[in-house]
Amino acid sequence: MNYTFSNRIAALQPSIIREILKATSGQNVIPFSAGNPAPETFPIEAIRTFTQSILEQDPVTALQYGITEGYAPLRDTLTQHLQTGFDTGKASDELFIVSGAQQGIELACKVFCNEGDTIICESPSFIGSLNSFRASGAKLVGVPMETDGMDIEKLEHALQTEKNVKLIYVIPSFQNPTGITTSLEKRKAIYDLAKKYNVIILEDNPYGELRFSGEDVATIKSMDDEGRVIYVGSFSKILSAGLRVGYVLAPHEVVQKMVVAKQGEDVHTAMLPQILAYKFMTEYNYAEHISSIRAIYRRKSALMISKLQEHMGESITFTHPDGGLFLWCDLPAHIPMLDYAKTAAAEGVAVVPGTAFLVDENEPCNAIRLNFSTPSDEQIVKGIEKLGQVLNTF
Ligand SMILES: Cc1ncc(COP(=O)(O)O)c(C=O)c1O
Repeated sequence: MNYTFSNRIAALQPSIIREILKATSGQNVIPFSAGNPAPETFPIEAIRTFTQSILEQDPVTALQYGITEGYAPLRDTLTQHLQTGFDTGKASDELFIVSGAQQGIELACKVFCNEGDTIICESPSFIGSLNSFRASGAKLVGVPMETDGMDIEKLEHALQTEKNVKLIYVIPSFQNPTGITTSLEKRKAIYDLAKKYNVIILEDNPYGELRFSGEDVATIKSMDDEGRVIYVGSFSKILSAGLRVGYVLAPHEVVQKMVVAKQGEDVHTAMLPQILAYKFMTEYNYAEHISSIRAIYRRKSALMISKLQEHMGESITFTHPDGGLFLWCDLPAHIPMLDYAKTAAAEGVAVVPGTAFLVDENEPCNAIRLNFSTPSDEQIVKGIEKLGQVLNTF
């Protein structure tokens, strides 16, 4: 059978990078390449108890179809939570539940972008979103990241010169892949430019609650006085990634369209995980749980940084994130990054080549992304030592 795939999907090719990642998915590989939350952050006992009580007390709600907008008590609780914790959500905004932040991002693109329209992204940025934008036929334009967020001059240049810019996609806190947090000044500048050029901002904040050092910075959504920001959040990194519960806060008119688009995708997010998320927020010690996750990531990131300094400190530079799951390492200029990643993989340590996160994977990039949440402490110690040894072979 000869299949003729749609133009959109036919254009998506497996890359060398993904081949490297596939080769390093084995059991004995040290996983610095994943983006998984640390397994010890899952409140397993509480999930077991809540599941049992849901199935005993109200099984039909959990097992029946629900409305596309999501489980009302969860929506109300989240709306309140975002208002008190993040100062987000005007009266004209509405919150609805999605099957992970990934779906919220994809829906935002679907409702605003025609094929050929432009989305401006941080470069590097989250692969899942870039692929989703690519599959929709949007044109991606990357704006380089600086230590405090996007290069604002280049952002303005892109807004001036690119045609049909529909969205600016930003991951302002502990960005995936760099770990960078966009400063308050830059958040304001991004908002002002979006206003000036009449573009919508897609603010993706799945790591927002995972700050382990420094002071919180206001969300861009909190500056939104005219319904310009679509804010996406997730339970993946604070409760469980596998339950697939996320949320979108956006003006009512936008939510109405996103909800119609979601109906055609999965009707609604599974009810049992939504009720679990609600119980997690209202019947569990949410604040204490978040604080325990922060403590785990504070320890793991400090361990990774100290080992990087010990084994590679003189050769590489890397970001020092204040939260989230990742840090970004620039290799010395003379080292061919893809060869380095391949050799590390052959030695049993998986890292992600930085090019995977670029709008154009062929652009020069000598960085790798390291994840500190998935590996155990022992794996961090062994893996970074191995990465140092691999560096010395070049
Ligand atoms: C920046 C960013 N946005 C969105 C997602 C998707 O999250 P979810 O599991 O909620 O779909 C991820 C997952 O790693 C991410 O890093």
